[in-house]
Amino acid sequence: MLSKKNLYYFGYDDTEQALCHLESKHIFNKQAKGKVLFSDIKFEPSNSAFIKRRIDVISSSENYETLVDKIKQENINVEGFKIEYLVLDGDTTAYKSRLNKLRDFGYVIEGNPDYYHPTTTYGLCYYESCWYFGVLIKNNLSWRKHNEKPFSYSNSISINIAKTIVNIATAANKKTTLLDACCGAGTIMLEACFAGYSIEGCDINWKLCRDARANLAHFDYTANIIRSDIKDISKKYDAVIIDLPYNLLSCASDHDIQHIINAASKLSDRLVIISIADIEGLIQKAGFSILDCCSISKKGKISFARKVWVCEKGDKRSNL
Ligand SMILES: C[S@@+](CC[C@H](N)C(=O)[O-])C[C@H]1O[C@@H](n2cnc3c(N)ncnc32)[C@H](O)[C@@H]1O
Repeated sequence: MLSKKNLYYFGYDDTEQALCHLESKHIFNKQAKGKVLFSDIKFEPSNSAFIKRRIDVISSSENYETLVDKIKQENINVEGFKIEYLVLDGDTTAYKSRLNKLRDFGYVIEGNPDYYHPTTTYGLCYYESCWYFGVLIKNNLSWRKHNEKPFSYSNSISINIAKTIVNIATAANKKTTLLDACCGAGTIMLEACFAGYSIEGCDINWKLCRDARANLAHFDYTANIIRSDIKDISKKYDAVIIDLPYNLLSCASDHDIQHIINAASKLSDRLVIISIADIEGLIQKAGFSILDCCSISKKGKISFARKVWVCEKGDKRSNL
């Protein structure tokens, strides 16, 4: 039976759809249908660039009046509540009718509403012939402050990609230990720290290590950054993220890339690699199977094209 415990609502543009689907697959073990996904897994929306809302469903019904009654029976008593209507794909309810429905639910909750500083926000929505009511958790977008980091480079991956890479690498397991093997200015590390993961960084270039440390300190995050060639790292991690060198700052030959992947293979059984080229052969040469691969571009930048490779050691079933 389909679980109706948590309803997730996604938002993304055309360039991000494949990446969003890959993220959902690794967090929830399934993809959203359109922009909606139901799961028993509780994931904090602000740790994703694509999850806009989560409704922790209190009750649902195909019949609207039945849902109002069910919520009445819950005897909810909350001072300072607010209710929002979430318009999902396929919901044609007119604006006025939506307002009336919000009022219906407002009457069945005890306590005074507070529109500006609510203590609890509830969400009402209609999706695929069923009404849902529950506690609404919004993506607070506070992570966008990372766009104002003191040091950044024009060819760095976007904050949206960085957040997604962290979710794919960890599969949302908070205990995952991470290494950002080519951390540059720390774009990925900032997102891992924001979400509360244990991450360390490594970069061969001391200036970039200095910039990454300054970026982390700017937001009061603490994470170890090692100035080193990745081949000289010996600690083990649950997953290693590698944003491979590719631009004028850090060009790399196949030989260099193989060197980095081989070195990472000694540190973890799980790699998430970002490349500009097709590196399937190099990944396999290092003893990894490719579980997933997706292509991404950056909004407004036709020249920015990257591939994300999710790899695990050994002969695993590939989704390519
Ligand atoms: C594409 S950049 C990473 C950018 C980073 N994700 C960011 O957002 O700023 C690749 C990085 O790999 C580093 N690098 C190249 N070879 C390396 C090696 N053998 N070991 C560690 N870092 C290396 C470069 O110094 C460069 O900072």
